[in-house]
Amino acid sequence: MVVVLISGRGSNMQALVEAGLPVSAVISNRAQAEGLRVAAARGIATRVVEHGGHATREAFDAALAAAIEGFAPRLVALAGFMRILTPRFVERFAGRLLNIHPSLLPAFPGLHTHERALAAGVKVHGCTVHFVTAELDHGPIVIQAAVPVRADDDAVTLAARVLKQEHVIYPKAVRWFLDGRVALANGAVHIRGGDAQLVMAPH
Ligand code: GRF
Repeated sequence: MVVVLISGRGSNMQALVEAGLPVSAVISNRAQAEGLRVAAARGIATRVVEHGGHATREAFDAALAAAIEGFAPRLVALAGFMRILTPRFVERFAGRLLNIHPSLLPAFPGLHTHERALAAGVKVHGCTVHFVTAELDHGPIVIQAAVPVRADDDAVTLAARVLKQEHVIYPKAVRWFLDGRVALANGAVHIRGGDAQLVMAPH
């Protein structure tokens, strides 16, 4: 049903599994990704498609797409997957490719979001689940969680507060998707039935 792509720890993948979502496989571009062990221990199929083994980004993406298609998923969920995907890959899975990003998009796309949020002095930060489009960390927003930034935060404390909310909103978004409740119109998402697409973490 759902194929999850990871590169590391895999805590978001684990949150999806623990929410009871039907994760049929976990695929990583890194053989050492800790999340692979977590998934395997739960009896979930795992695959490794290493980018090093492919001459071009296109060749890697084609191999990755083939591994995914082997599970015929309804949804592909990127969860800490640290590779930029080609437009061709994104097109192939258009409308069934979600990502979680640790900022309130469109603020702070890319890496080091917590450091950048602190440097900018924002008072509210958070995380976003969005459909993947060819532009990095863009695409229609399914749900966001807003997290307060405290005066004594550093990147570690802030990241931990955001991650806790990632584990709340990603399972919600995936469940909505599988239940056929995610409606996409003119680049914006609404949820059939009107569930709130914003979670506010306690101050
Ligand atoms: C998360 O913060 C995710 O939003 C970001 O990378 C981190 C991955 O964490 N893209 P995990 O592997 O899910 O634990």
